[in-house]
Order: sequence, then C-alpha cells, then structure tokens
Amino acid sequence: KTIYILNGPNLNLLGKREPDIYGHETLADVERVCATVAGENGHAVRLFQSNHEGEIIDSIQRARDEAAAIVINPAAFTHTSVAILDALNTFEGPVIEVHISNIHKREAFRHHSYVSLRADGVIAGCGVEGYALAVRRICSLLG
Ligand code: DQA
Repeated sequence: KTIYILNGPNLNLLGKREPDIYGHETLADVERVCATVAGENGHAVRLFQSNHEGEIIDSIQRARDEAAAIVINPAAFTHTSVAILDALNTFEGPVIEVHISNIHKREAFRHHSYVSLRADGVIAGCGVEGYALAVRRICSLLG
C-alpha cells in the first residue's frame, strides 16, 4: 500500500533552516528513512512538500484515492488551519501527525494543533526519526 508523507511550509529548507531546532538532515533524508521502514513492511511512500495551504489540501484529497495512510507535518499550518483539519476529516485511513521539534517546549502559540483533533497519533520532538516512528506505527495499523 501507499503511505503519503505530507510536509507543510518551510520544510523544503529542512537541513538549512534553524538547524539548532530542526537539525541538519534534509527532506531527502526524511524520504529515505520513510521508504526504508515502509519497504521493510511491504509498503511504499510518496513524499510531498508545499508552502501553500491549498496544495496541501489538494494532496490530502488525492490521498483519498491513492493512499492507505497519511503521515503529516503541517508545519506552521498545524496551529492555524481549519481547512487542513477538514480535509483530513474526509480521509478514512490512519493519520499520524509529526513535528520534528517538541512543540510543547516552545512558544505558547505552537502548543495548540488543529490537526491533532483528527490524528490517530502524534509524535513531537524526536527529530527526523519521528517520521520513521510514524511510518512504523502506520505499518502496524495497516497490518
Ligand atoms: C514544526 C513545528 C511548527 O511549530 C513549525 O511552524 C514548523 C515545524 C516541527 O516539525 O517541529 O514549521 O511542525
């Protein structure tokens, strides 16, 4: 089965962007670790990143036909986007929310997540490894 790995704004700069917070690994590294874990369990991943809220919503709508599960790091849209929450609510498979940093250890405006109202699980503060943990969890849920 196919697992979508969706990434929100500024994550195209992962590895270059505030490395003290987000580390030195890139989105290509994220794709590699996710593909490895999924492959070990007989599944495949497709990674997508956009700086545009509507494109993330479009990709969630595509997932309805093309993916069995979603791992999503909505980045700053986590804290603002009812539209991404609504899109995820149209998706029937498992959804795991990932944050590279521990959003609860940071500014108060990062403590609330709209997406958590839909997510089956949330991983925060585990770095890029959090994506691999999320894919592992999706694999157990998919069986
Ligand atoms: C983030 C945390 C968000 O608060 C922030 O806006 C991001 C990345 C994370 O992965 O830690 O862009 O989702």
